[in-house]
Amino acid sequence: MDPLAGRIAVVTGAASGLGRAMALAFAAEGMHVALADVDEANLARTADEVRARGVRALALRTDVSRAVDVDMLAARTVSDLGGVHLVCNNAGVSPLGAAWENSVADWRWALGVNLWGVVHGVRAFTPHLLAQNEGHIVNTASVAGLISPPGMSVYNVTKHAVVALSETLHHDLRERGAKVGVSVLCPAYVPTGIADSERNRPPEFADSAPVQSPELLAKKEGLKKAVRSGKVSADEVAQAVVAAIKGGHFYILTHPRIKGAIQARMQDILDERSPRNPLAL
Ligand SMILES: NC(=O)c1ccc[n+]([C@@H]2O[C@H](COP(=O)([O-])OP(=O)(O)OC[C@H]3O[C@@H](n4cnc5c(N)ncnc54)[C@H](O)[C@@H]3O)[C@@H](O)[C@H]2O)c1
Repeated sequence: MDPLAGRIAVVTGAASGLGRAMALAFAAEGMHVALADVDEANLARTADEVRARGVRALALRTDVSRAVDVDMLAARTVSDLGGVHLVCNNAGVSPLGAAWENSVADWRWALGVNLWGVVHGVRAFTPHLLAQNEGHIVNTASVAGLISPPGMSVYNVTKHAVVALSETLHHDLRERGAKVGVSVLCPAYVPTGIADSERNRPPEFADSAPVQSPELLAKKEGLKKAVRSGKVSADEVAQAVVAAIKGGHFYILTHPRIKGAIQARMQDILDERSPRNPLAL
């Protein structure tokens, strides 16, 4: 989709990190932006930053795990901003742990935000894009959707699912000859608030007896450090997203050095051998 100026974008998880950077990058391209998040204070701040770039902004408290919230986001985007062309299903959280250590609450919370959030975005917005036969959908997965690093079962499951959903969506839209593009964003570590995503855990998913094994505590420290020292900035990721939308590219791999680990996983599958640890390659 090109040019972007004058068109309307929706970004979930827009209060922080990659979502905020994408919203600002789209505003700099002249797009009007609907911003969604559960963090209303920071969402309002991002909306002001968007408006400061001379375009319109709609800030709407949206819990992407809730179908009614995302349906409302779609309705309000169309009614308040006058349409929709670009949809970025980006909100995410990152619980850590081995599969047996994660509680039912961990699984429900992360599947709700990371997977159902994307499902609801695709379900609520794609009919609008199809009706006008124009638009683009960007789903935020992760390199954890292409490889399976240890110590983050729940996260890996949600992100592999987002890659599968995005690839299938791409095929389904191509089969119907629709002029609606799809991209899947697969970054490695980027300095954002993701290692502190417990701040967004709703009370209904509170963990009554969280497991605190030494391995889990080490993983939490490791994630904080890795995210903090990520060499690619959120703004650089947002620029890669803009380029992919303009160029119609599906996979957005912002950290090329990770390709070796992706290749190793694919080769292990083809050779029918046990998977190598992608963090040890
Ligand atoms: N930062 C990284 O290293 C990295 C790497 C790969 C993928 N990602 C993915 O990028 C996306 C954005 O994360 P980020 O790194 O910017 O982290 P972040 O914590 O800075 O931003 C995530 C945003 O999502 C919002 N959010 C959480 N639960 C929500 C809900 N139920 N409904 C609506 N909004 C909700 C948060 O309030 C926050 O503003 C996520 O999907 C994440 O998994 C991040």
